[in-house]
Amino acid sequence: METEIPILKGRSVVVGVSGGIAAYKAADLTSRLVKAGAQVDVVMTPAAAEFVRPLTFQALTHRPVALEMFALWQETEIGHVSLGKRADLMIIAPATANTLAKLAHGMADTLLATTALACRGPILLAPAMESGMWANPATADNMKVLERRGYFSVGPESGRLASGADGLGRMSEPETILDAARWVLGRRGPLAGEKVVVTAGGTREAIDPVRFVGNHSSGKMGFALAAAARDRGAEVTLVHGPSAQRAPYGLRAVAVESAEQMQAAVWEAAGDAAAIIMAAAVADYRPKSAAEHKIKKTRGELALELVRTPDILAAVAQRRRQSGAPRAVIGFAAETDNVLENAREKLARKGLDLIVANDVLAADSGFAVDTNRVTLIDGGGVVEALPLMSKTAVAEAVIDRLAALLRRV
Ligand code: CTP
Repeated sequence: METEIPILKGRSVVVGVSGGIAAYKAADLTSRLVKAGAQVDVVMTPAAAEFVRPLTFQALTHRPVALEMFALWQETEIGHVSLGKRADLMIIAPATANTLAKLAHGMADTLLATTALACRGPILLAPAMESGMWANPATADNMKVLERRGYFSVGPESGRLASGADGLGRMSEPETILDAARWVLGRRGPLAGEKVVVTAGGTREAIDPVRFVGNHSSGKMGFALAAAARDRGAEVTLVHGPSAQRAPYGLRAVAVESAEQMQAAVWEAAGDAAAIIMAAAVADYRPKSAAEHKIKKTRGELALELVRTPDILAAVAQRRRQSGAPRAVIGFAAETDNVLENAREKLARKGLDLIVANDVLAADSGFAVDTNRVTLIDGGGVVEALPLMSKTAVAEAVIDRLAALLRRV
């Protein structure tokens, strides 16, 4: 399910493409921005147009691509100034060594450089170049100057470069650049200055060095919650079990395996947090002891003795009753039957402000799928059934409720 991303929806984003091989990845970035709901204008340097044709970007954005400074002067308002002026954000991807040098010196000999110079919104750089060029003190100094002037940057990363060599200089992946753009746009949002702890994924309880007791949780819901909180300016710690999800840019990710490790990480992060959201599928039981060596099979049956793991959410809520912090505690209820009744009971028993109940047996809901159908129940007993939505949209709705909760306390 395609989802618009609220922090990008309706925002004017200028993508500046300079001339490097990574220019082809700017097409993917542009496509993601458009799908997220942004209004995207692409400005290319003449060198970039050697790598990717402007038509590609025009087809993706349904808007003319700005390439020549003089063509835009035919507009009623001078184009090169107007693009920069109305942009909520400019992303320069790839930002080549040459472009960085021009920006650092305030040059305006291409439309891209001119737009950046006239830009009133934040500018995010995604540098990409050969590793020697990146390591050169001239480039390093230019980056320092730009950062001092308030430019934001993402990457470059290590990996295979166009030259065939491995090194530092690869442009960050479009997904990461998009995430960084969300962070930049959201940094002064309604949760700015608030620390939020989110847990995600399932825990694994060791049976022996190669086996574990686990569950089907993919971590998708929790990762989306962490990203949505980050988009509103929160300082997020994401404590997650093993997951195929990529840790979103702009937050602190803590990887754990067992329920006990998750509890320790949550306990530490929750000390001065404003809110905690437990979306993780924490194992309720673990093997009483994990065998030191791999258990060999024998003819007979094998009985595993399981003992209870700590209830992290209940412990955090308990601590809140004593100390008053965190101010908001949100839990999830994964149910297979009597969803609302069980969720209400959990909300009351664990002393939560909000519980997100879902039927994990429904085909379009629960583990591994991208959609969820949830019902929100708050401490006052108010029930809000949300329609079938992407997990990203559910995350946005839950974080909106969190922002409202924090405003009240
Ligand atoms: N939870 C937790 N620690 C545990 C088990 C669950 O913090 N050891 C949290 C989950 O992250 C979730 C909430 O408690 O936010 C409810 O989890 P769920 O598995 O639905 O309920 P349980 O409390 O485990 O109850 P039951 O398994 O009996 O339904």
